[in-house]
Amino acid sequence: MDYRMCWLEYRGLPADAAGKLKDWFSSVSILEPGSSVLKDEIRRFSERSIGITPRFYSRPLKKEKYIMVGRLESLPIKLDENLGEEGFMLRTLEWNGSKILLVTGETKKALVYGIFDLMKRIRLGEDIEKMNVLEKPKAKFRMLNHWDNLDGTIERGYAGNSIFFKDNRIIINQRTQDYARLLASIGINGVVINNVNVKKREVYLIDSIYLKRLKKLADIFREYGIKIYLSINFASPVYLGGLDTADPLDERVARWWREKAREIYDYIPDFGGFLVKADSEFNPGPHMFGRTHAEGANMLARALAPFGGVVIWRAFVYNCLQDWRDYKTDRAKAAYDNFKPLDGQFDDNVIIQIKYGPMDFQVREPVNPLFGGMERTNQILELQITQEYTGQQIHLCFLGTLWKEILEFDTFAKGEGSYVKRIVDGTLFDRENNGFAGVSNVGDSVNWTGHDLAQANLYAFGRLAWNPDEEIERIVEEWIKLTFGDDEKVLENVSYMLMKSHRTYEKYTTPFGLGWMVNPGHHYGPNPEGYEYSKWGTYHRANWEAIGVDRTSRGTGYTLQYHSPWKEIYDDINTCPEDLLLFFHRVRYDHRLKSGKTLLQTMYDLHFEGVEEVEEFIKKWEELKDRVPPDIFERVKERLHMQLEHAKEWRDVINTYFYRRTGIPDEKGRKIYP
Ligand code: GCU
Repeated sequence: MDYRMCWLEYRGLPADAAGKLKDWFSSVSILEPGSSVLKDEIRRFSERSIGITPRFYSRPLKKEKYIMVGRLESLPIKLDENLGEEGFMLRTLEWNGSKILLVTGETKKALVYGIFDLMKRIRLGEDIEKMNVLEKPKAKFRMLNHWDNLDGTIERGYAGNSIFFKDNRIIINQRTQDYARLLASIGINGVVINNVNVKKREVYLIDSIYLKRLKKLADIFREYGIKIYLSINFASPVYLGGLDTADPLDERVARWWREKAREIYDYIPDFGGFLVKADSEFNPGPHMFGRTHAEGANMLARALAPFGGVVIWRAFVYNCLQDWRDYKTDRAKAAYDNFKPLDGQFDDNVIIQIKYGPMDFQVREPVNPLFGGMERTNQILELQITQEYTGQQIHLCFLGTLWKEILEFDTFAKGEGSYVKRIVDGTLFDRENNGFAGVSNVGDSVNWTGHDLAQANLYAFGRLAWNPDEEIERIVEEWIKLTFGDDEKVLENVSYMLMKSHRTYEKYTTPFGLGWMVNPGHHYGPNPEGYEYSKWGTYHRANWEAIGVDRTSRGTGYTLQYHSPWKEIYDDINTCPEDLLLFFHRVRYDHRLKSGKTLLQTMYDLHFEGVEEVEEFIKKWEELKDRVPPDIFERVKERLHMQLEHAKEWRDVINTYFYRRTGIPDEKGRKIYP
């Protein structure tokens, strides 16, 4: 096999643990017809981890101990539980003279989740004799967005080429199924397989020439409870249908989409729906025809509704042709300005997908005020698992800690306790169609994610989407144990590195919510004015005495998009959280922070500290030689050394920039280039 199975790499369990499991796994009763996926996974695990091949039966058994897998309604034991479509139960009980470990749920998909969860728990050392678990996902939509192009390239992909496409063809092979296994094991239930920028050949993905092959892909993913979605081009009726317009209120356009939907569902009866990037960064949309986002999205939604499909409409809409001399327009305000007035106008099967912050996946941004701003609209939180602005999988930057902070952010939309996590799980505004989307970090590299430790980002995304209340430390611990086994030192060092890495990256790049000091285009490496005079609305306006954009009520008014007390907290330089200071305020370099140090001195200090922390990561990793597989050890080591070199570049470029701007030296006399 030319790739590893990440956290699903089943290794032999210690002899005593395996010994105890043998009786349980020797006979497995599966009361579910057509359940090869369940059998295969149990067999794989038993053979590799316990060293036995189970016998499978399709009826209850007379045995001292065994595992029974079946939907609630097919069990001989009556249990009064409401598990919903995706919830499952693992319970060890006595019945009919046998000890049974029951894996049950209301659907086949729930059984798949149950089996993966059972094996995870066993691998983490939980006692099978005492299993008593009831799990239900909190959010309904738990999606991955692939930015994969049909030619096999991936927009913002840092882990090789696409696993879905090559040379304008759809790839289906063993890896397709293994990917479905990985995703199901972390509870992902939807995958958008193509890039949100639907240009050139990708427009044809909804054409019959591709649908046949897509059906095969959907058949594989369905077995693991995962639905396929496609990004579409809003002007498809023109490109594919030969119409002279894509105006959503033109009946010919609506009819074309209805017929298209029917055709797609003929091939894929459980097709998930469309993801749409409209009127954004040169993608066509309803604005081209003088229509609103709601009119555009609803027209598509009505075509999909009869088949149960949804339209996921992105809120990433802003003026991408700004003039840097224009001080009035503030890109941070754009999503709210565009979508807030439409709250309540979207059909039930439309979901607005909102990036976590108002700009674009910077290392730190405030939470997008649309969360808490729209009470009558379904919402998906969009996170970027791929590390576009966070080190491109060369740098170690675990994002779970940042995501957890976002989920725990209290919007105060309905008073205290109006957390983002309660919006995306639908409970705060009592809505059903909500959830998570993560821009995938997966490619065809041997470890799927380029940096081996970046697998933790994918894992954490799935686990938080399933349960945003989960503690991040626990998720990290799980991932480490499942990936590397039980070695205490590995657990200690890797969790130290992961838990700290986002802050470290922030320190040596752009702290204080500054963002954007990257090279334009590919977005890797420092360039303090790379985006300063561009069209993208991404300015910091540093001069000799101050830096930052005044986004307060006295400036662009962005702070007014928040509920109280955030509105007031962000508005005041004395109460604004310091890690977002330069996002909200224009600040003099000699401004004193809470520590008593000036902004400038702190800027210098953080950059030196960040590099020292990377040096520390290298030491921690070196200690793990011979404790992790040698190929992983070498790959990670190589990346950490690249990270160190590039972190130094960041430190020196940014510190030099500020020194040259201000003429104020570092108090500690460290090397800064004059
Ligand atoms: C970023 C990214 C683009 C992407 C866009 C989006 O701007 O650089 O590659 O297309 O986000 O999310 O649509």
